[in-house]
Amino acid sequence: MMAKDVEQLKAEAGIAAAAFVKEGMKVGLGTGSTVKYTVIELGRRVAEGLNIMGVPTSIATRDLALEVGITLIELSEVEGLDIVIDGADEFDPEFQLIKGGGGALLREKIVAQASNAMIVVADERKQVQTLGAFSIPIEVTPFSWQETRRQIERILKCQVILRNGDVEKLGDVKIEGGAFATDNGNLILDAQCGATIDNPIATEKTLQGLAGVCEVGLFNNICDMVILAGNDGIKTLTKPDGRLSS
Ligand code: 5RP
Repeated sequence: MMAKDVEQLKAEAGIAAAAFVKEGMKVGLGTGSTVKYTVIELGRRVAEGLNIMGVPTSIATRDLALEVGITLIELSEVEGLDIVIDGADEFDPEFQLIKGGGGALLREKIVAQASNAMIVVADERKQVQTLGAFSIPIEVTPFSWQETRRQIERILKCQVILRNGDVEKLGDVKIEGGAFATDNGNLILDAQCGATIDNPIATEKTLQGLAGVCEVGLFNNICDMVILAGNDGIKTLTKPDGRLSS
């Protein structure tokens, strides 16, 4: 059998996840090149009569959701969401995640936290034994970001780099060479730890304790299911003690 290309795997995972969205649900809509297929598929189902409301996790997803005809609401207008579907950069055997490759981690975590369950859509490259080969994205304030970076390097004992982009000035902070700006007007630092994060809960907690850190791209004890696309088809991995196990 010919190997499927990554784009095909992303589409298969993304489309399969849409089946978990039922009539009347309030749905968190994740960000990225895999979950984009879920959003498009949900739009197709809405056009066929499915009635749902979505909360997007980024400006890019908001624009896509509106384009495909999904009704959007503000998180503040509702008491929680039924489900969030989102991508991930890595997941480990405990269903702990690295997210934020697209820079949307802060909104993604707020929406995930407000949801009764979380489904991740991924291709098999994202499945790892130990987190960290993919750099951990950390959203930080522009103010004194170099000092925040030093603090993070001291804690993690690894190199931490400023994510590049084309923004030269964020607020009153000028950034030589340009930086990536999040939807919240912050910066992203990527911590290059290597596959060493064997206690992601402790790592998340320690980093969250630093002033200047807005959010950490470690999503712990929040993912209940991974829809994983591989060459042999789709696998649905359900966290044994998660909110979608029965
Ligand atoms: C964005 C994210 C994405 O969900 C994550 O980076 C995976 O993206 P993709 O499906 O494009 O690989 O966390 O902040």
